[in-house]
Amino acid sequence: MNRHLLSAADLDAAGATEVLDTAAELANVTGREVKKLPTLRGRTVVNLFYEDSTRTRISFEAAAKRLSADVINFSAKGSSVAKGESLKDTALTLQAMGADAVVVRHSAAGAPHRLAHWLDGSVLNAGDGTNEHPTQALLDAYTIRSRLGRLSGLTVAVVGDILHSRVAHSNARLLHTLGAKVVLVGPPTLMPVGVGAWPVSFSYDLDAVLPEADVVMMLRVQQERMADSYFPTVREYARHYGLDSRRAARLAEHAIVMAPGPIIRGMEIAPEVADSARSTIVEQVANGVSVRMAVLYLLLGGGRQ
Ligand code: NCD
Repeated sequence: MNRHLLSAADLDAAGATEVLDTAAELANVTGREVKKLPTLRGRTVVNLFYEDSTRTRISFEAAAKRLSADVINFSAKGSSVAKGESLKDTALTLQAMGADAVVVRHSAAGAPHRLAHWLDGSVLNAGDGTNEHPTQALLDAYTIRSRLGRLSGLTVAVVGDILHSRVAHSNARLLHTLGAKVVLVGPPTLMPVGVGAWPVSFSYDLDAVLPEADVVMMLRVQQERMADSYFPTVREYARHYGLDSRRAARLAEHAIVMAPGPIIRGMEIAPEVADSARSTIVEQVANGVSVRMAVLYLLLGGGRQ
């Protein structure tokens, strides 16, 4: 593996499969009474979060701690960033403190790439604006593989606010690399310009896509990234693109329903679908810890010690 994980495009099929296989081995640790391995003892992992996060931040912290790394959590609120400190000066401070890895979430696309220039350690992209979220794509791929046994040849429908979704971007890349067929589904206003150049197909008609899908991934509408109005009302959105139980009944028997979270119940997904046996939402969170352990382990060279 490279020194950094900035994009899903950093991984070829062999590299991605190595992460998934390593995560599967490390998942056993989670089942133990003492959930710890000594692998990263003496190493320092900094969580640098400039944007809100629940699952990603907590699971990176849990992952680093389960590998015995020292973890420093930095959130922009309450730090000198609020006093106007730049990303570069923050990076130099982390460097001076001897960070071996920096996990960064930032509202600006490309911020992790900038950090990677300034730091000697590894940089892990935990979400940069609407650009990429590679560890989410890895944990999604892991979840699909563990539920359905494979990725190659599967049809994965990614549904909703594609335009603002770093999850959609990273999943389109990674799932394509791993041999799955990705169909992006959403209203025309939330489909990125230039989507024709992505390694995917796309549709505006959810009902037509559902019977073909092995996996449906429901994305949240990212109101916080919207200055304009992209659809008339929430009710109208839910009527066309929400996964309710009537729509879920059109899915193949084996098909699974995923969401990166947070979910807005009643908008992109109905509560009874989110809580159904098809849903992997909670499983994805648990798998996120194993996958992030694997990434930290491989990036920090845990295997070579
Ligand atoms: C996603 C994100 O932050 O990009 N969430 C996550 O990491 N689990 C998607 C979202 O915010 O809707």
